[in-house]
Amino acid sequence: MSAAANVTRVGVVGLGTMGAGIAQVCVQAGLETVGREVSDELCERARERIAHYLARGVEKGRLSAAERDAALARLTTTTRLDELAGCDFVVEAVVEDLEIKRDLLRELEAVVGERAVLATNTSALSVTEIARAAERPERVVGMHFFNPAPVLPLVEVVRAELSSEDAVETAYELAERLGKEPIRCNDTPGFVVNRILIPLLNDCVRVLDEAGVTPEDLDKAMTRGVNWPIGPCALIDLIGVDVHVHASEALHGALGEARMAPPERLVRMRDEGLLGRKSGRGFFSY
Ligand SMILES: NC(=O)c1ccc[n+]([C@@H]2O[C@H](COP(=O)([O-])OP(=O)(O)OC[C@H]3O[C@@H](n4cnc5c(N)ncnc54)[C@H](O)[C@@H]3O)[C@@H](O)[C@H]2O)c1
Repeated sequence: MSAAANVTRVGVVGLGTMGAGIAQVCVQAGLETVGREVSDELCERARERIAHYLARGVEKGRLSAAERDAALARLTTTTRLDELAGCDFVVEAVVEDLEIKRDLLRELEAVVGERAVLATNTSALSVTEIARAAERPERVVGMHFFNPAPVLPLVEVVRAELSSEDAVETAYELAERLGKEPIRCNDTPGFVVNRILIPLLNDCVRVLDEAGVTPEDLDKAMTRGVNWPIGPCALIDLIGVDVHVHASEALHGALGEARMAPPERLVRMRDEGLLGRKSGRGFFSY
């Protein structure tokens, strides 16, 4: 039997945008899930969010009311890290801060069992750097979900320098059990998708000014001429201008290619609060 088949209880630390989505995916896949947040209020907010999305799934006929109830019953939330003691697999999705993630890893190692695998959902930090804080870094891997986690199928399973084959395969198979479509990759800046997508979207934005083209026409060019399912401006609005600028800065800091630096125009949009869909206006109005 594979290691992932033995995973019965999952821990998710940090129930923000990503963590709540990951916890939802876990309970929907039939796994007992313990979510940890820093306050009772944030625990409650995450539970309400998950309940809301599951209820929407029922309305849309994607799951039955009984399946929703069963999924919610598998979710426990807590502010106490020691309640993750019985978890075979833990995904951390706390704020993107190296020291916070390293401290958390040390605390987690003190509460979980010998064989538990510890995964980080970091987008831009080095998994190897995070793992260095662990007493047993071989059990640490990256597990990079995409936003929104319940919707997007891809998970990048990241092999850090000292990750064991067993930990990587456990994460890969668990992702499949969650109904995802994982890939394996090394721990390099931006992993696979962001390494390609970030400079590419930045090029698209630079073309707006260089070619004197409107956002509407740029999106038309890439959807009608190259068959992209969504235009680059609409995609940046969906990702969030602030999130994209932050990711560009991180990638540029790590690899230094000029194309990776956020274009002036995006930095200005971020400063003016034109963040895309979430603020009602970015390249387009919503
Ligand atoms: N948002 C995205 O598009 C996206 C996509 C992929 C990966 N990520 C990565 O996922 C991680 C989380 O991002 P997010 O967008 O969900 O952030 P978020 O700010 O929405 O959520 C982070 C949550 O972690 C909680 N938290 C902080 N310290 C904690 C601790 N010690 N224990 C428990 N909870 C704690 C915070 O209260 C907050 O609710 C980051 O590493 C980020 O890089 C984000």
